[in-house]
Amino acid sequence: MLINERLDRLGENPFTRLNALLAPITPRANERPVLLSVGEPQHAPPAFLAETITANGDLWNRYPPVTGTDEYRLAVTQWLTRRYRLKPGALDPARHALILCGTKEGLYLATQLAVPQVETGRKPVVLLPNPFYLVYRGAAAMAGAEIQPMPATRATGFLPDFDAIPPATLERTSLAFLCSPANPQGAVAGLDYLKRAILLAREYDFILVVDECYSEIWDKAPPVGALEACQALGDGFANVLVFHSLSKRSNAAGLRCGFVTGDEKLLARFQTFRSFGAAQVPMPLQAGAAALWREETHVEANRALYRSKFDIAERILGGRHGFYRPQGGFFLWLEVGDSEAAARRLWQEAAIKALPGNYIGVPDESGHNPGDGFLRVALVHDDATLTGALERLAQVL
Ligand SMILES: Cc1ncc(COP(=O)(O)O)c(C=O)c1O
Repeated sequence: MLINERLDRLGENPFTRLNALLAPITPRANERPVLLSVGEPQHAPPAFLAETITANGDLWNRYPPVTGTDEYRLAVTQWLTRRYRLKPGALDPARHALILCGTKEGLYLATQLAVPQVETGRKPVVLLPNPFYLVYRGAAAMAGAEIQPMPATRATGFLPDFDAIPPATLERTSLAFLCSPANPQGAVAGLDYLKRAILLAREYDFILVVDECYSEIWDKAPPVGALEACQALGDGFANVLVFHSLSKRSNAAGLRCGFVTGDEKLLARFQTFRSFGAAQVPMPLQAGAAALWREETHVEANRALYRSKFDIAERILGGRHGFYRPQGGFFLWLEVGDSEAAARRLWQEAAIKALPGNYIGVPDESGHNPGDGFLRVALVHDDATLTGALERLAQVL
């Protein structure tokens, strides 16, 4: 019963809302519809993924370990150590890595584990950047938490300002989400920013969830990570959970594979929780996924393809609609006036779907939704499709 009540209060998911908004409209153009609304990678994963899965076909009969295979956990801890210049031995594959059937389920389930019925005698709070990846709000609402949105606007460098949260709120905070590079704005949290957020989590004893799913899609410099910030602080990984995914890095969204790392005590609890019901990743897929984490040239090639898309976007949209080249991720966050009106016009006049920014934000206490006035545009299609679509978009807007 409680689940249904919470679900009713949560309301529709942004993509259902978008489809409902556009359903009465028939696109006027003779153009092929282009979905710039969904952040689904369109590049192919490297061929060795399918080859590795096939070569491990003798493992389909096995129940996969809920933690991930030793091979998988070793591959991800070695990748993390290389990527974030961690001290050798800082991560133990058996204690610091849990496989996930995509980070989406991990982010959701970690929130269910982290949010108690009461926090220091009152209703627990979950802090989330506003706007946000839809799962943060869904997970917090379904866990029964009070949601405290932290505006991530141009004025705050498109990242939430943790120092603006009153101590009384921090005292009853169970969990805070941070996304870097951020979906939708592409902002990257720097080392000092991450250190500050981690120190706050430790001072007020909440879990800092750092979603680094877009960490490998960057423009000029590789984003620093929360594990690096932990290392700089020098006290292990207490209070921090970091999520990584193969969906964007290796164009393997359909593989459903990622992992969570960080605080070993939290990971041990999470493992127990997951052992009762979380989805497992089949063993042949784990073998393919481990091969992906061990290999970097396909990631570099992928990054180059995204840079080319941002070059196209900059050429067509530079100087208009608040265009900026994000530090990471693959979204444009464009200022368009009325978000829904712009989405409707784009669909009607150019057969383009883009996501109204207000659908991935919530109003703050003053009633202002920081997603209002924005459109999220996913740069995932090939250069020719994207060029045509953005030229039409520029004309219509
Ligand atoms: C910010 C963010 N986090 C997590 C995910 C989930 O990715 P996956 O479940 O494919 O690992 C997405 C997917 O779009 C995302 O945008």
